[in-house]
Amino acid sequence: MKKIRLGMMGGGIGAFIGDAHRRAARICNDFELIGGVFSTDYQKGKQFADLENILPERCYPTLDAFVKGELTRPLNERIEAVSIVTPNMLHHEFAKKLLKNGFHVICEKPMTFTVDEAMELQEIVNKTKLSFALAHTYTGYPMVRQMKEIVKSGVLGKIHRVDAQYYQGWVNSIIQGTGSGITGVWRLDPNFAGMSSCMGDIGVHAFNLIEYTTGLQIQKVLADLSPVKENVQLDLDGTVLLQLPDNIKGVIRSSQVAAGEENNLTIAIYGSHASLKWSQENPNFLYQLSDAEPTKVYKPAHDYNSSFAQASQVMPSGHPEGIYEALGNIYKGVARSIRGEQLFDGEFPTVEDGVRGMKFISNVVSSNKEGNIWKVL
Ligand SMILES: NC(=O)c1ccc[n+]([C@@H]2O[C@H](COP(=O)([O-])OP(=O)(O)OC[C@H]3O[C@@H](n4cnc5c(N)ncnc54)[C@H](O)[C@@H]3O)[C@@H](O)[C@H]2O)c1
Repeated sequence: MKKIRLGMMGGGIGAFIGDAHRRAARICNDFELIGGVFSTDYQKGKQFADLENILPERCYPTLDAFVKGELTRPLNERIEAVSIVTPNMLHHEFAKKLLKNGFHVICEKPMTFTVDEAMELQEIVNKTKLSFALAHTYTGYPMVRQMKEIVKSGVLGKIHRVDAQYYQGWVNSIIQGTGSGITGVWRLDPNFAGMSSCMGDIGVHAFNLIEYTTGLQIQKVLADLSPVKENVQLDLDGTVLLQLPDNIKGVIRSSQVAAGEENNLTIAIYGSHASLKWSQENPNFLYQLSDAEPTKVYKPAHDYNSSFAQASQVMPSGHPEGIYEALGNIYKGVARSIRGEQLFDGEFPTVEDGVRGMKFISNVVSSNKEGNIWKVL
């Protein structure tokens, strides 16, 4: 099958997640990187393009130049889909311009700065019918997809409680002044990050994972956030109580200053018959607990998994796949969407998930500001 011509905004030399996107696009084998705006510094962007064998004329200094340049090319040469892997403040502006000019978009989270901006993107996607994916990478893991399918099957009985945790420690050394060579510090600056650091950067992944795996929408949130230290402008740590339909309760616990923690994202769903637990740092094991029998462990690439989970692992069982493949599965879903193929439920997070994420961030910030009160999403 012909590769889809891919562009990229950001992600050049020294950038973090752009490299993972390129690997993911390569792994899923449906895309070819053709051009983009790889850096704020055009010289650095050109250096990167050279390393990647990208033609100099497809390396642009700005988004405007990119759109203008690509639209002058015939359709069979033009870049078709664009990944946005810049800091948060550019997501809305870039996605809007790209969609309005006919490009499919794969956008990093959080989708925008505000709920209104998110809803505007939703309207544009609905109108243009272009494919739009939000890079909630963790939904690409086979065992997260299996979790979604098990919940759907009703095996858990009545869900009582959901509990998601996302603990990292890397910001601790920054606020203590001991970190050196750490990138991504823009996350602490509202001009780059938006209204939240901890909840906007990682709490929103936990939120998305709960809604993704349960298929339910969180109705209300009550947040207690902390900047941890004086002179820090945004939250670095927080707890959010949740209310879901049918009197289901839950909690999101999230921190960027939990010293020693790496990328400790976990989710547990507790039901009347059984419960499920999954952890990002050991993504190939999904645990099903019950009072009546010993714990079951699901692993990828076995016939006992759902067809969706099975389609999400490339290698045979016992060959661990990880974060690049998870993101690759999201790229695979986008490729299938662009080609008009029949999709599984949840092949990639959508613009609707982006709107939900922005409602979460905005409401936890205002809940905290207004004295830890319940807010309706
Ligand atoms: N899905 C995930 O799990 C995950 C993980 C990490 C980061 N992210 C998200 O990815 C985004 C980028 O994060 P990062 O850690 O890679 O940041 P980064 O600072 O490492 O890289 C950002 C890149 O954007 C470029 N850039 C900035 N302004 C630009 C402009 N005007 N035009 C073109 N390029 C520009 C920079 O030069 C740099 O190459 C953020 O929104 C972040 O929330 C998501």
